[in-house]
Amino acid sequence: MPPELPHSPALSHPTFFGEIDPPQRLLMGPGPVNAHPRVLRAMSADLLGQFDPEMTGYMNEVMALYRPVFGTRNHWTFLVDGTARAGIEAALVSLVAPGDRVLVLNFGRFGLLLSEILGRIGATIETVDAPWGEVLTLDQIATAIERFGPKVVAAVHGDTSTTMAQPLDGLGALCRAAGALSYVDATATIGGMELAADRWDVDVVTGGLQKCMGGPSGSAPVTVSERAADAIFARRHVERGIVRDDIDDGYGPRILSNYFDLAMVMDYWSDKRLNHHTEATSMLYAARECARVALQEGLPARFARHAAAGRAMSAGVRALGLEVFGDDRYRMTNVTGVLIPAGIDGERVRRRMREDFEIEIGSAFGPLQGKIWRIGAMGYNAMKHKVLITLAALEAVLRAEGLACPSGAGVDAALAAWGQDVAPGSGA
Ligand SMILES: Cc1ncc(COP(=O)(O)O)c(C=O)c1O
Repeated sequence: MPPELPHSPALSHPTFFGEIDPPQRLLMGPGPVNAHPRVLRAMSADLLGQFDPEMTGYMNEVMALYRPVFGTRNHWTFLVDGTARAGIEAALVSLVAPGDRVLVLNFGRFGLLLSEILGRIGATIETVDAPWGEVLTLDQIATAIERFGPKVVAAVHGDTSTTMAQPLDGLGALCRAAGALSYVDATATIGGMELAADRWDVDVVTGGLQKCMGGPSGSAPVTVSERAADAIFARRHVERGIVRDDIDDGYGPRILSNYFDLAMVMDYWSDKRLNHHTEATSMLYAARECARVALQEGLPARFARHAAAGRAMSAGVRALGLEVFGDDRYRMTNVTGVLIPAGIDGERVRRRMREDFEIEIGSAFGPLQGKIWRIGAMGYNAMKHKVLITLAALEAVLRAEGLACPSGAGVDAALAAWGQDVAPGSGA
């Protein structure tokens, strides 16, 4: 039941709830994480009209800023307004028409999400599966492509549900050889692990802000290759109320969503500025600042910082006597799955972390629900002191819950594992 507005007898109208004043939690789950203060400041800047030259100038800057973030020279690099899932849905509904054959690389919840969205589009879906905690080999992918002959291959880069990162080198070449387009969900890795859209030769990649980019959720950066843009523009059907003489419809089947129609969204982000939605101004400011922060830090330094944080976190939990989930070789650097020890109530631990230490760690989904915690160190939170504070708090909570952890071992191991490759205090 939603709360009722409290009624003050002294006033003839209801009193209103308090001003927003959330507790200062340290968000060390699989995302969202705390946003960088510069991003929050950017979001409080004044609004602009959507065709104001300052605004369209910012849109062009966003396009330029996200090309290096995606590792691409793709002209079509822009934002879909909505959470990361909006980017996924926009990519898939714009690439895939009912009946199209799509191969999904499935190794966790977000591979299943791709199939779920594709099912609604009416695609003919085939999956190539790895157990949760593992990834697929290039040979498995090649065999599945050869057998199924897909029009599109859809993959997740880092699946936060399992904490595994699928290697994507070679995927594009397989797709090229088969005449297929490719899609990658990089929500959980963008800004934290290398994205190499051009080197991987993949066609559409989408992301989000609320993980390694250090922003809030609500904007989905996307990049689209020329090849994919041609395929999408071939399905352009401009809505009747905004038809213009200088924009022709394509010959392909109409894209089955108006909001997520990337042909119209790209026309809006082009010099034509064809009106579609009203660009979410404050989210655009956020996305722009996220990319500026990331590029100013330098992407290699940023990836090294995430790797150091992940290394320290897994060394720390292991030193506490806990087991890390999944195949070590393919672990995402920014989120660590930790097996909940026998006899320990995982939800009680999470609650004590939150109530006693103001720290959030993640639970899990599907077959891993109740079996692992997911502890992240992403974006603004991939910092040495935040990893150490989390480990110290976890040790205290586990002791209080009756688990005999070696005293101080988690923090010591994390400090040792952090290594020398990141300048002290870095954490831009
Ligand atoms: C790999 C991956 N894809 C997609 C999503 C969905 O993102 P959003 O909740 O922003 O729509 C998430 C969120 O956790 C994710 O980790």
